[in-house]
Parts: sequence; structure tokens; C-alpha cells
Amino acid sequence: MADSEKTCLFLPPSPPCLEIFQLSRVLDLPPENLIKSISAVPISRKEEIADFQLSVNSLLENNDHSRPDIHVQATRLAEKLKCDTVVSEISTGQGTINFKINRELLTKTVLNQVIEDGSKYGLKSELFSGLPQKKIVVEFSSPNIAKKFHVGHLRSTIIGNFIANLKEALGHQVTRINYLGDWGMQFGLLGTGFQLFGYEEKLQSNPLQHLFEVYVQVNKEAADDKSVAKSAHEFFQRLELGDVQALGLWQKFRDLSVEEYIRIYKRLGVHFDEYSGESFYREKSQEVLKMLDSKGLLQKTVKGSAVVDLSGNGNPSAICTVMRSDGTSLYATRDLAAAIDRMDKYNFDTMIYVTDKGQQRHFQQVFQILQIMGYDWAKRCQHVPFGVVQGMKTRRGDVTFLEDVLHEIQLRMLQNMASVKTTKELKNPQETAEKVGLAALIIQDFRGLLLSDYQFSWDRVFQSRGDTGVFLQYTHARLHSLEDTFGYGFLDGFNTACLREPQSVSILQHLLRFDEVLYRSSQDLQPRHIVSYLLTLSHLAAAAHKTLQIKGSSPEVAGARLYLFRAVRSVLANGMKLLGITPMPCTPKRTSTY
Ligand code: ARG
Repeated sequence: MADSEKTCLFLPPSPPCLEIFQLSRVLDLPPENLIKSISAVPISRKEEIADFQLSVNSLLENNDHSRPDIHVQATRLAEKLKCDTVVSEISTGQGTINFKINRELLTKTVLNQVIEDGSKYGLKSELFSGLPQKKIVVEFSSPNIAKKFHVGHLRSTIIGNFIANLKEALGHQVTRINYLGDWGMQFGLLGTGFQLFGYEEKLQSNPLQHLFEVYVQVNKEAADDKSVAKSAHEFFQRLELGDVQALGLWQKFRDLSVEEYIRIYKRLGVHFDEYSGESFYREKSQEVLKMLDSKGLLQKTVKGSAVVDLSGNGNPSAICTVMRSDGTSLYATRDLAAAIDRMDKYNFDTMIYVTDKGQQRHFQQVFQILQIMGYDWAKRCQHVPFGVVQGMKTRRGDVTFLEDVLHEIQLRMLQNMASVKTTKELKNPQETAEKVGLAALIIQDFRGLLLSDYQFSWDRVFQSRGDTGVFLQYTHARLHSLEDTFGYGFLDGFNTACLREPQSVSILQHLLRFDEVLYRSSQDLQPRHIVSYLLTLSHLAAAAHKTLQIKGSSPEVAGARLYLFRAVRSVLANGMKLLGITPMPCTPKRTSTY
């Protein structure tokens, strides 16, 4: 092949990142496959071979067609590629294509890019170019008023927040919706229960707790005393019929609960654009039932309820109940009404629902019904399911309120902090404990596949050694204090020749690849790619921190190193924020691995 026919990998003026996108065009392979197959060559071997390696074996893993000798394949692919200002050498090894990078250019451009792009670093990559801006609705958290806020709600909150953050960072227009369980028989019970054992002051001062207590008590009472059950039923009837007095009480329960939720979500760093809820769709559900009927999709059962037959979708016994025998709507009916309403309101390109996998069938049915009603946009609806977590207990017992979890986190972290001698007095130990502890919880949850179930353990969340959120926070704080100690005076520029140690090169290689993990997470909505990237970055920073001294180095060397560390902190902070973690400037000292 003549040189001119080969394709240049890194076309100017793109930054010299390992342009997966270009590589994907030249090799005619999807970026996803390439990202998985490229790795940085470990420092000790780097001098001899290369900086990056593309494993042809793993690249072609899923290819069925018989392939000749892997080395021939590697050579054939490598022939399509040409060196340029960034790639200074391309060679082949046993089933690999090896790239050597122009180190000077790598250093200069990566660091400048990180500092210049700030929170946008990695997001301007060609991997995302041409990505159309979409309208995305993310519905998450969605607890039920007066009922337990369980671990499933907690997971929905942090996962949904991550997805919304990521989509927003990618430039999409995101609407965050909290769809509260704010309707149903529980409000009949609450209405009656509040009249029997409710206290206005308690409701005002601690609504979530008080409503839950009333709910538990009235449930017990109703089980033994038929008249209580009857009056609860009547109260709910009044609500359904729009009785002003009953609705007034319901509204008060809802408003006070939402107010408290907003306050607690704020501690988590989570916000919503809309507090919607099942109650909004009481009337619209009736319209949905009429529509279903007019389209001939509603089938009455002998008991008087109504169902939609979904057996056409491959499952002969599939039906979805959409109306009770008394004419009232069900969970699924309200979800149909809510989806239609949101389409009207937001004209979304994608709507994502985040709940545990127990609701997979429910959403499948809702989307199928929308489809057979003729709403082709049903295809734009997506359910992101996650696995079940068992055994999350606090000192007070099972998790009942979100605040219990925050309280437990704070308590455990403060205890950890007390057991370690800190050199610095923390300004606000409570807040620091909460933020560091939350990071620990989030990282622990995000490390695996979202769909996996796991057994919860506080010890694992807070283990003092290893790959935890505490480690990320600690690394961030250490880097922050470097800047604090040495100031920004050095940071006007840097000499690339001062960053040639293997520790610097490894960090630069890693920083270069931030766009790839963002890309992977944007494809499968799994946070684990970002998590493992940040943990590796923190390990690299720890190694560099040991060897690349600032104190005692010449101003030129110190300046360049500070520049490098500042870049690491910036990318670390960006990644943490995407995951929903607030990077702290100061943390307790860690009984650490280094
Ligand atoms: N409130 C529901 C629950 O706790 C979750 C709501 C999920 N969203 C929805 N659109 N159905 O199980």
C-alpha cells in the first residue's frame, strides 16, 4: 500500500488523544470494540515496546468468520494506519498493534486541554462529535409517601442522578422527575389514622416520620377493627370523588412531605425539576381507559375489572389489568397516563425510568400498551433496572427513611475520623463526614453491574484500605492541599521536559483516555467504567505523589509537577461530580495504603 493511501490516525487540529473515533473509521470497527481492546502498556515495559497496545485478538473475539493467523491480521490492520505528529511509531507484536506516542506533544496537549476545558474535558472529544442534542426525561427516586423509603429508592436516587448528570454533561436537555407514590388506599388509612392518632405539631416538625408512624398504627388498628377499615375506605372514596376537605388534608400531607424530601435530597446533592406523582393522573387515567375502550383494547372480566390483552407479543398468557371492578385506576393505568402527559409536555426523545428489576415486567407491559395504542414514541421509553440489595440496616434497624442512611453514614464516618489522628482541624467535621461517607456508599454501589444483586455491608463501604470512595475523596483532598500549600504562582506554564518520569507518563496516558470511559458509560449507562477509571487515576496519583516531590525541586520542575497534579485533580473532580459525589477540599487523614 502506498503511504498516501494510508489513513492518518490523528488529524490536526484534533487534540492528540488516542482518537478512537478515527481508528474506528480506518479499521471499520465500532468505537466500543476498540475501547475495550486498547490498553496502556505498563510502565516497566514501556521503553521497549510502546505506550498503547491494541489487542487484535480481543478486537475480533466476537467475529464468527474464520480468521487466518492473528499476526497476519494484526499486520494487515496496522498497514492501514500511518504515523503522524502524535503517533511516532506503529509496530505489531503477537496479535497486537503497538503505538508509540510523541511524548512531548502528549504532555503539552493533554495538560493544556485538561486545564483549558475544565469541567468539559473529555466531553469535547470526537467520540461525541455530531451527537445531536436530545430532550431527555429521567424519572428516578419516586418514594411512596407515608411508606418506607427502602434501599431500592436509595439506589434509584443515586443511579438516576448519575444518568441525569451524564446526559446533561453530554449536552442534552434533561428533565429530572420524581414520581411520588402519593395516591391510593394508603391515604384513606392516613386520613382516618390522622384523625385518630395524629398530632399537628409532629406533622409540622417531622412529617415523614409522623405520617409513617400514623400509617403503621392505623394499619394495625384496621386489621383488628372493621370500623377503622371501613372509615379508611370511605375516606379514600371521598378523595377519589374530589371531596374538598379530604383533599385539603391529603394536600397538606403531600406538601409537607415534599418540603422535607427537598431538604434531604439537597444533602445528597440531588435535585428535581418536577415533583410529579400518581395523584396527578387520577383523572387522566380515566381518559386512558376511554381511549383503550374506543380502540377496542379494553376487555371486561367477569369480576368487572378490565384488562388489556398482550398475548400478541409472544406471551400467550400476558394480560395487564388496568381497571378495578369499582372503576378506579391501577398503577399501570397511571403510568400510561403519565407517559402520554409527559410526551405532550416535554416532547422527549428519550424517557428513562430507574427502578429495581422487580418492575421490569410492569414497564415492559406499559411500553407495549402504549405501542398498541398507536404511540410509536413508546420506543423512546427505556427502563433502566437495577439489582436488589439485601441487608442494609442502620443502628435503628431497617432503613425506613432516607435520613436514617445519612445519619448512619455520618455517625460511622465521624467514628472513623475520631480513630485517626488528624493533623488538621476540619472546619465542618459533620459535613465532611457526610460527604466522604456518601462517596463511599456511592462507589461501593457503582462498582459492579447495576443489575447485580448484592449483600450490603457497612464494613465494605468504609474499609480503610483499598478501592473506596473514601480513597477518592482523600486523593482529591491531598491534591487540593498541594495547590493550597504551593499556590498557583507556578502555574503560568510548564516545561514538558520536566515530566518524563514513568509516573508522569502513566498519568498522562490515563488522562488522555477519560473520553473513552465517558463514552462507554454513555453507551450502557453503567457508572462502573468511570468508577474504575477514577480509582486507577487515584492510584497513579498516589504513586506520583511519592516520587514526584515538589518541595526541594527547582521551580521549573516543581511548576510542571504542580501542573500535572492540578490536571489530575480536575479530572478526578469532574468524574466524581458526574457520579454524584461532592469532591471535598479537605478530608480526615486516611489509615492508608500509602
Ligand atoms: N413509587 C414506586 C415504588 O416505590 C416507584 C415508581 C416508579 N416509577 C413509575 N413511573 N412507575 O415502587
